[in-house]
Amino acid sequence: MRADDFSYLARLLRRRAGLILTQEKATLAMRRLEPVMRRFGFRSLEPLFQELRLDCEGLADAVIEAMMVNETCFFRDSHQFTRLQTHVLPKLMQARARDKRLRIWSAAASSGQEVYSLAMMLDGLDLAARGWQVDLIATDLSGEALARAQAGHYTQFELQRGLSFEDIARHFRAQESGFTISPRLKAMVKFRRFNLLDSYGWLGDLDLILCRNVLFYFDPATRTSVLDRMAETLSPDGVLLLGATERVASDAYREIEAGFCTPVQPPSLRAVG
Ligand SMILES: C[S@@+](CC[C@H](N)C(=O)[O-])C[C@H]1O[C@@H](n2cnc3c(N)ncnc32)[C@H](O)[C@@H]1O
Repeated sequence: MRADDFSYLARLLRRRAGLILTQEKATLAMRRLEPVMRRFGFRSLEPLFQELRLDCEGLADAVIEAMMVNETCFFRDSHQFTRLQTHVLPKLMQARARDKRLRIWSAAASSGQEVYSLAMMLDGLDLAARGWQVDLIATDLSGEALARAQAGHYTQFELQRGLSFEDIARHFRAQESGFTISPRLKAMVKFRRFNLLDSYGWLGDLDLILCRNVLFYFDPATRTSVLDRMAETLSPDGVLLLGATERVASDAYREIEAGFCTPVQPPSLRAVG
């Protein structure tokens, strides 16, 4: 890839998705762009970049989509789900015992394994029968990942990464080409395509945000801005869950333990004193 094309690609990704593309990823980037090149009928990357510079929207979307890392699995970092179930949810439910309502956002949901892991956990608590309303919102910038999440259709290999045979038998139906999640679990989740760089106003007050394994792809300024805006959408006793090895890079939070944080005070309030 030509140096000026690489730097155009890096700027496009940063501007449109907050993602950082470093020089070491140049070969990987080229490999990921090849299917886009073929799909749009280019013989090499040079004409693809010429077209991209003409602000061709469909092509820009496809290029950004191709550069996304959608790696995920069911109950990824299972100790975090254990802590959610044994500490975080019981505490939140105690605090919300009067309203019996919880609002949870999986902010970079990829192909849905994270939010369906949550749905399975919540299903086990039988919350609906106990009169609880749980809003489970799952968003991602990748249209392809989100379409997979909405379909709730997975290969056997994907199920085996994180689920027990009991989980699979209970929540999935075998089909010719894989396994589909039960309509009951699917109905628990509202999916929406959403860029973390955009405004969070539509989300309202949230009790729990999962923003795992995405922030480290962002530049520091984007990371801080995302974290600050998430703090504003969390209720004061709400919880933000990062990836197991991620640390919160914002003074808007107090870290409870690895990955679990709670907002200190919304930045807007801190600004006025
Ligand atoms: C590595 S996956 C993490 C999935 C899941 N949270 C987990 O931990 O298993 C990162 C996800 O972030 C999404 N993503 C990257 N940039 C984004 C942005 N600006 N807005 C929303 N989602 C983004 C990608 O499409 C991808 O699905």
